[in-house]
Amino acid sequence: MKRKIAIFASGSGSNFEAIVQAVEAGAIPNCEVALCVCDKPGAYVLERAANHGIPTLAFRPKEFESKRDFEKMIADRLDEAGVELVCLAGYMRIVGEELLSRYGSRMINIHPALLPAFPGAHAIRDAFEYGVKVTGVTIHYVNEEVDGGKIIAQRAVAYDGNDIDELETMIHKVEHELFPEVIAKLLND
Ligand code: GRF
Repeated sequence: MKRKIAIFASGSGSNFEAIVQAVEAGAIPNCEVALCVCDKPGAYVLERAANHGIPTLAFRPKEFESKRDFEKMIADRLDEAGVELVCLAGYMRIVGEELLSRYGSRMINIHPALLPAFPGAHAIRDAFEYGVKVTGVTIHYVNEEVDGGKIIAQRAVAYDGNDIDELETMIHKVEHELFPEVIAKLLND
């Protein structure tokens, strides 16, 4: 039986797309993207999921009484789908107790900087403005801290220019390579 993963995203979903394409190309063997979870019902990632025939769970956090309530709904759906690994790919929320207690050891996140440097939502810009000459991409386990959690893999990007768009393109390219590689490795271990 194929190993099932879920991908959580809030926006464009270019990492979602890279993972799905890697699965379709056989680069993540024996894997199925069983669910796309999205907290923004209009996000482009949902269109990408539909294009690949991947089931989606879109929800509006505000329609729930508490974070625990919507996380319970998500975790129940992950259980139902038999998901073994949860990949956060631009999911712009801090994961709470309910999901962490049920999926914490099987939940990974991608961050566009070399943690512990530049945590937070604007890592590429922050690293660029700081003037670092080497930044990169981190994949780590998720815990209760923003971009905390044990690091699984990192890949450096050297940049000495002054065009943030160029740096962003370089970072995203590395993200799209590294995330599928790490998922393949984790599922294989
Ligand atoms: C990526 O840069 C990821 O590292 C960060 O959020 C961004 C999501 O981009 N956590 P996309 O939606 O995958 O295009």
